[in-house]
Amino acid sequence: MNSIKEYNNKIKQVLVTKEQIDEAVKKAGAYIDSIYDGRPILLVSILKGAFVFMADLCRAVTVPCEVGFMCAKSYYEGTISTGVVKITMDLDQDISKYHVVIVEDIIDTGRTLNDVAKMLKARNPISFRVVTLLDKPDRRIVDFKADMALFTIPDYFVIGYGLDCAEKYRNLPYIAEYSAVE
Ligand code: IMP
Ligand code: MG
Repeated sequence: MNSIKEYNNKIKQVLVTKEQIDEAVKKAGAYIDSIYDGRPILLVSILKGAFVFMADLCRAVTVPCEVGFMCAKSYYEGTISTGVVKITMDLDQDISKYHVVIVEDIIDTGRTLNDVAKMLKARNPISFRVVTLLDKPDRRIVDFKADMALFTIPDYFVIGYGLDCAEKYRNLPYIAEYSAVE
């Protein structure tokens, strides 16, 4: 990657605009409020991809809310998942005292959330739900369903609003298709 032109050329098309994201995040906040009805929750963000979604979603809920972060790394070769998932940073809360809501950026093969959900459910939270910004159901290898998916997208590699390609493009305010063409 040598120039700003090359960098921008990789942004093939905008799939979800900032306005569409803002509206959907508001709805997700209202969904969470309606489920927990004043009961305190712990929002758990899976880093790094979900950090932008988490920042907006935690401000869209009105129930008493704490935040937690864990780092689950899915290993990629280019834009292809290798299927290896590693927890590189764990939560510092004892989740047995909480209604836990996982805040994820995207469910692709389903492997990451399947592993994370198994691990966290074994710690006996009061309840456990998953909200994902994006869902790519065509790519599923492990059967995993979120309680809420804000957008369902086709089998494109996407960037922006927290999602990266080789650590770049996370700061785009919209979600775009990445162009793999050299
Ligand atoms: P899964 O384990 O295959 O479901 O992959 C989940 C993780 O892979 C996500 O949390 C993302 O961090 C990453 N990922 C999957 N698809 C994409 C994509 O299209 N763009 C960027 N990251 C992705
Ligand atoms: Mg992720």
